[in-house]
Amino acid sequence: MKTPFTDHYDQTFLLETMMGPNAMRTMEELTASLPLKAGMRVLDLGCGMGISSILLAEKFGVTVFAPDLWIDPADNAARFARLGLDGKIIPLSVDMTKDVPFAREYFDAIVSVDAYQYFGDNDAMLPKLLPLLKPGGLMAVSVPGFTGDYSADNVPPELKSIWIPEWHFYSLGWWQALWTKEPGLNLTECREMDCFKQSWEDWLQSTAYPEPVKSDIAMMEAGGWKYFNLIQLTGRKA
Ligand SMILES: C[S@@+](CC[C@H](N)C(=O)[O-])C[C@H]1O[C@@H](n2cnc3c(N)ncnc32)[C@H](O)[C@@H]1O
Repeated sequence: MKTPFTDHYDQTFLLETMMGPNAMRTMEELTASLPLKAGMRVLDLGCGMGISSILLAEKFGVTVFAPDLWIDPADNAARFARLGLDGKIIPLSVDMTKDVPFAREYFDAIVSVDAYQYFGDNDAMLPKLLPLLKPGGLMAVSVPGFTGDYSADNVPPELKSIWIPEWHFYSLGWWQALWTKEPGLNLTECREMDCFKQSWEDWLQSTAYPEPVKSDIAMMEAGGWKYFNLIQLTGRKA
């Protein structure tokens, strides 16, 4: 899948702002099949330092609500203002596991890249999010995942010394089962994303978080590539 917006973006800025596999590239592929139009309201869950939100605002002209837990919204506000996106991306501090401060039937789409696994790997999250969508609204999530059903007692040998449950990685079938059993959503796409290798390679060259990058390089060199993927889940509110 071609990602022309990401490929033409300021690569130095992206390398300084990544918090995992290149979220701008991943968001560009995730949104390629979504009918986003200027003026829509989009909620970008766990936006981190906002590179997925920047793509949404600049490529589609949508208004982005950008909640995150770990990143100070004042830092994101300053970053968005420097890019001329003040008022186009609204930074918020929100813990998605708690009560959320959003209006019902307010959003045209809810999206998320490399964050949903931390709070959405349970039965409770879709019933909490779906009321926030307008009728027929879109849900589109990308999560890093496993190519097989690995767990604490079934970890691939190369990953044994580094695997931790806090990764929250699951297989495509695991996510598909979770989303299919939610009656309020029609799942339209569930697949491995084409950008997996490139988004990860971008991250492994990035500069904002040298320690995690170092351990991820070791993990991939130990044979990790074949055990990982990026999983896309897309659906429409029933
Ligand atoms: C690996 S970072 C990715 C950030 C960004 N999406 C990206 O790809 O660059 C995971 C993000 O998930 C967010 N997150 C984790 N748990 C969360 C929660 N309970 N509520 C909101 N955000 C959460 C963190 O704040 C963090 O920024």
